[in-house]
Amino acid sequence: MSGRRKRDLIIKGFSKLLKEDKLRIVAELMDNQVETIELLKSFWYADTEKQKIFDEFSENTITNFYIPYGVAPNVMVNGHTYLVPMVIEESSVVAAASSAARFWSERGGFRAKVIDTVKIGQVHFLWEGEKEKLERVFDELKQQMRENARSITANMEKRGGGILDFELIDMRDKLENYYQIKVSFETKDSMGANFINSCLEESAKTLKEFVRTHPAFHGKERELTIIMAILSNYTPDCLVRVWVECPFKDLEGIDPSLTGEQFARKFATAVKIAEIDTFRATTHNKGIFNGIDAVAIATGNDFRAIEAAGHTYASRTGRYQSLSHVEIKNGKFKYWIELPLAVGTVGGLTALHPLAKHSLEMLGKPSAKELMMITAAMGMANNFAAVRSLVTKGIQHGHMKMHLMNILNHFKATDDEKKKATAYFSDKKVSFASVGEFIKNLRHPTK
Ligand code: MEV
Repeated sequence: MSGRRKRDLIIKGFSKLLKEDKLRIVAELMDNQVETIELLKSFWYADTEKQKIFDEFSENTITNFYIPYGVAPNVMVNGHTYLVPMVIEESSVVAAASSAARFWSERGGFRAKVIDTVKIGQVHFLWEGEKEKLERVFDELKQQMRENARSITANMEKRGGGILDFELIDMRDKLENYYQIKVSFETKDSMGANFINSCLEESAKTLKEFVRTHPAFHGKERELTIIMAILSNYTPDCLVRVWVECPFKDLEGIDPSLTGEQFARKFATAVKIAEIDTFRATTHNKGIFNGIDAVAIATGNDFRAIEAAGHTYASRTGRYQSLSHVEIKNGKFKYWIELPLAVGTVGGLTALHPLAKHSLEMLGKPSAKELMMITAAMGMANNFAAVRSLVTKGIQHGHMKMHLMNILNHFKATDDEKKKATAYFSDKKVSFASVGEFIKNLRHPTK
């Protein structure tokens, strides 16, 4: 049977097998079984205790997938200078962030402010009874929900967090009989997803029991259907702002053909385009998330949740727009970014993943608020570097220079060939074809 045909098989009970057996089954589905096992095992940690940590993060782990862990130095936020860990595979992201961070560190650094840290969860339910009945007892229900969640919230309350409020929301104009209980939370230094979801599931149980037993609803429990209870990854009130500001003269020399003011105006126009055009906004914001995701991954945070919230926030006016903005006023360039960033520095993977733990130590064990500001600053650094390149020499110049090593590796270049290619392409255009040609000529010089 060919590998392709074999892969069409349904495998039952896979998750219950030992790792070695899973690996063997995967290899049997491939045409090159011995090489498959060798390859996958070559990425295991020699230290079995360390490997066990990774095996237990997720089901059916058969190996580890490595992504480079880099650092961006000279990241100045509110006067503190950080060495920021970034985990990302894209060649030019760390270089771009480092260069922008250095640039702004010489101009006062990034200024940042956490606007708020409130998180949201929802109990979604259908209620066929009278709305007024729900409203009349809602304060009592709130009290009950708070009390019943106490065993979950006690520890969080000791740290200054917990449930902030419950709100009844009538959604019947969107869906027949549909209501929500919107619950707001403060989760301090934890991202808080498990805490929030546990509180919400408890609150849904309380709602059900309340309707079943409260005299006001006698016999009305059939009118209630709990649909689901889950946190919202949209956290518009867990918001951070980062900004920089400088006179035009501080932007002199970025491009030899532009004065500081011309650069500022060109940059501002590029950002304006990302505010008005969705196609551009998507790429513009992707560049911001290059920086944000890299820090989120390095610190063990959930980058999918962060991205989802960021993109929703970018659409909050009804049209998807840039997350960064520029104002040119009184001879000054003002540039800022504002976005929701629900990150944690305790709980989750932050202490379990040895490198996430290390990243947080490298950042000086920041609070969640401090990490929000550092992470947003890296989004801004990457955005600044990208737009600066786009409005001056173009993105491919730096991008392909960084990509040169990937192309050389594709041609299995030796260290010596890499050295020669790096020197040769330092002042030439890099492309797959031109690097291929260069390597061919090195290996088979024509007389
Ligand atoms: C590439 O990963 C990101 C950029 O495309 C962002 C941008 O265009 O602003 C360079």
